[in-house]
Amino acid sequence: MAVSILSRSDSFKYDQVSRYINDLVEKGELKPGDRAPSLRKLSKQLGVSISTVSQSYLSLEDQGILNAKPQSGFFINALANQISNIPKSTTTLGQPRKVRFGELFEEIFLNADNPRIVPFGTAKPSMEFMPVKSLTRTTRSIISRHPEKCMDYCFPPGDRKLREQIAHQYKHTSTRVSADDVIITSGATEALSLSLQTVAKRGDIIAVESPTYFAVLRMIEKMGMLALEIDTDPVTGMELESLQDAFDTMDIKAVLASPNISNPLGSLMPEEKKRELVNMLAERDVPLIEDDVYGDVYFGDKQPRSAKSYDLNNIVLSCSSFSKSLAPGYRIGWVLAGRYQNKVLELKQATFSATSSINQLAMAEFLSSGQYDRHLVRLRKTMRDQVEKGRYMIAKNFPEGTCISNPQGGNVVWVEMPRGCNCIEIFNRALQKNIGVTPGILFSATRRFKNYLRINCGFPWDETNERAITTLGQIVSDLLEDSRS
Ligand SMILES: Cc1ncc(COP(=O)(O)O)c(C=O)c1O
Repeated sequence: MAVSILSRSDSFKYDQVSRYINDLVEKGELKPGDRAPSLRKLSKQLGVSISTVSQSYLSLEDQGILNAKPQSGFFINALANQISNIPKSTTTLGQPRKVRFGELFEEIFLNADNPRIVPFGTAKPSMEFMPVKSLTRTTRSIISRHPEKCMDYCFPPGDRKLREQIAHQYKHTSTRVSADDVIITSGATEALSLSLQTVAKRGDIIAVESPTYFAVLRMIEKMGMLALEIDTDPVTGMELESLQDAFDTMDIKAVLASPNISNPLGSLMPEEKKRELVNMLAERDVPLIEDDVYGDVYFGDKQPRSAKSYDLNNIVLSCSSFSKSLAPGYRIGWVLAGRYQNKVLELKQATFSATSSINQLAMAEFLSSGQYDRHLVRLRKTMRDQVEKGRYMIAKNFPEGTCISNPQGGNVVWVEMPRGCNCIEIFNRALQKNIGVTPGILFSATRRFKNYLRINCGFPWDETNERAITTLGQIVSDLLEDSRS
């Protein structure tokens, strides 16, 4: 009888077959050079059709996990289980710091939009993976049906229908949210900025993940606050013991973290740890600013819950947007600000920054028609394959000793290179070859990630991008050799 190891989730069957093979490789039960189970055998064993297994094997071949040999079947690729994951960091608790990026930040982003530069340095997924036609159709239809509404202001907290739709989306994550809890913002960036300004002021200490998304550090810099970097496990997120130590010795005004898929690590906090984090902060009456922009782009079977769903005391300000999952240019984000709702709203009103009406109305319609949910099912699968292939390509082309994160969602990977590889030097040399990367030092106020890069895998692995990874690997190897000679 066929053993059904496949879960009854909404992910594609062939996708689950791929995961089954990946698991065997990760556990070492299938080693490089081993023959993968035959299509017939696996189809019988898992209770799926031969064409499902075949589809999965082709996708695994594309990701570099399997090699097809004519007349002989599929074999585990030599590099398949040799991708070293990023090791756990073990630094001791540092001091809160003023952030000082200065001109470095602007210099690095000068080329972010240049179409001639290979976009490994951005964090956005390619529009090739987005439902460009259907969202455009929806937007056109909204403009022709409601031209006056589209031309008018849509004052904070934002369009009612959109807020209802966003609240409805939280059903998937067991978080009880109503339209009244939602404030629409211009991207997650505005949501994070309003949240920070609401709960802290100049000179206050904000605990953040390390490494953390550089724009958060930039905001902290510009608001004159201090960043306290807390060690972050590459798999399970911010270390709660380190956070506890920090609370014992410092007056922390807020914690800003991405329990669901952090940037750049791609860590995903286990549910129990999320609950513990929220409880720890509730006990101290310290707000948690949750950055949940990648929450919809997870790779597992089940949608992770937001930290907000554990928030019995209303201390969580949960910020998100459609930037990583649909349309960054529409600039539609939101915040569920809990007990700070009125303060955040006042601040948004005070800046007179109503968010685009057309985009709000279009997004509301796109969500209510079910198109967003259908798109997400495809996007998650695509991004997982993209990232898997990216990890394989990096492992193949970068020098020995390179470690690569194993993200649980999103589209970026965090790459630790052997000591001696200076990320700024790599950034400059890569740019000369029209390749963008994000240097690791941007992800910390202490500049501790000198031998790290963040690489975007959210663009199709076409010939240009594959060649760019090879070139990048060569640049890193050359630099390493220079540093050793
Ligand atoms: C972790 C994280 N938070 C927030 C943002 C900003 O999102 P938005 O474009 O919606 O402002 C990004 C964008 O890269 C991000 O990576």
